[in-house]
Amino acid sequence: MTTSTRAACVIGWPAKHSRSPKLHGYWIKRYGIDGDYRVEEVTPEGFPAFVENLAAHGYVGANVTMPHKDAALALSEPDARAKAVGASNTLWLEDGRLRSTNTDVEGFIGALDAAAPGWDKRTQSAVVLGAGGAARAVVYGLVERGLKTIHVVNRTYEKAVAFRDRFGASVQPARWEDVPDLLDGAQLLANSTSLGMSGQPELDIDLAPMAKDAIVADIIYIPLKTKLLAAAEQRGLKTSNGLDMLLYQAVRGFQLWFGVKPEVTPELRDLLVADILKK
Ligand code: ATR
Repeated sequence: MTTSTRAACVIGWPAKHSRSPKLHGYWIKRYGIDGDYRVEEVTPEGFPAFVENLAAHGYVGANVTMPHKDAALALSEPDARAKAVGASNTLWLEDGRLRSTNTDVEGFIGALDAAAPGWDKRTQSAVVLGAGGAARAVVYGLVERGLKTIHVVNRTYEKAVAFRDRFGASVQPARWEDVPDLLDGAQLLANSTSLGMSGQPELDIDLAPMAKDAIVADIIYIPLKTKLLAAAEQRGLKTSNGLDMLLYQAVRGFQLWFGVKPEVTPELRDLLVADILKK
């Protein structure tokens, strides 16, 4: 490797199961970039010193995963998205300053744009299930796209109320028993809970009351097709899954580190699908 090689990494604890190296490695090869993308397992205690000396470790930037997303926000100069979501997942050096953003927002929105181009022009309201970390990126993305009403449904109701305080009056907190009513004529449903993930309880929701041209999104990618998405497909609804979100969230980091806006191609998707099915 020459000294001109630009390198980025994913920092986590643990991090070795991350799919980001496969993803960024594909783009590095495809665009013929003199670059590298590595995995760095760093403990919470070691994280501040590591990111404060990112360049000395040989990196122009990094993805940040569990459990470091809050620390990454606190230790960097975050953009508006990272501040709004309250977590950073992407770091880069800008004139020697450590900057950060949260690309889960464009991951979710990019996946929706790909699944149903122009969806935001015909969607006034959405129902979002969950009020955890992932839901913050989902809800902020919908707020950015100007949706009038975003119903946030959560088992712990107070956390849904906190979303209205964080994101403003377009957020309407709701309880799980409100879901059938909220879905009546609904145009967009997004699951951002862990329900339906392999090893977790299923999410069992009747989609019949939704609009005939509605979209159903799930942040989960293991399994690739959750029961919720299978039910949506059966009804002829448009769907977007967690793998699309993973692919689209990676675009901005690659562009920041390597200077090329990469394309999410069917070939890349197939590569990741094969990797997920192998395990
Ligand atoms: P993440 O960062 O992945 O979003 P999280 O912050 O722990 O993870 O959020 C998990 C979400 O799934 C929460 O909205 C959680 O509801 P609570 O806030 O009430 O805990 C939701 N969730 C997890 N298990 C659930 C279950 N069995 N029933 C309903 N909601 C559940």
